Amino acid sequence: MKQFSTPHLVLAAALIAIASGCASTSQSKATLSVEQIMEDGFEGKESLSARISKGQGNEADFKKMAMLTKELALNKPSKGDLASWTEKTQALQAAADSLVAGKPGALDGFKSAVNCKACHSVHKGD
Ligand code: HEC
Repeated sequence: MKQFSTPHLVLAAALIAIASGCASTSQSKATLSVEQIMEDGFEGKESLSARISKGQGNEADFKKMAMLTKELALNKPSKGDLASWTEKTQALQAAADSLVAGKPGALDGFKSAVNCKACHSVHKGD
């Protein structure tokens, strides 16, 4: 059964399991706080989101972003209403998922969805 032991396949399967693992086990409760997500993926000029927006993201970056934005959508905003939060975070999550899927136009979609100011002005406290 040599064909089942291709190292690449095993590695790919393991990576997918890692990337989807922490997000898929908790369906309705976030395991990361908004603060952690911002620090991990958004804060600073060299952040994950900055690199992706500059077109420098690779597949692992997209997967991490998909995981972080999924977590973000599972959070509740400390400020602003939930409908607005849900709309923004789901758009962001969908954009990150499109990057993972390699859909045409995914990068432009991500850049417009990852609008720091539009979200902070409504949902970020001081
Ligand atoms: C969909 C909404 C949303 C988007 C998009 C968003 N943020 Fe945030 N961000 C928040 C919220 C909500 C907070 C407040 C978190 C808290 O302290 O509870 C926050 C907090 C922060 C913080 C402070 C974190 C801390 O340690 O307290 C930084 C830095 C930050 N965001 C950077 C960014 C940058 C840079 C971008 C754009 C590339 C961005 N965010 C996009 C919602 C968003």
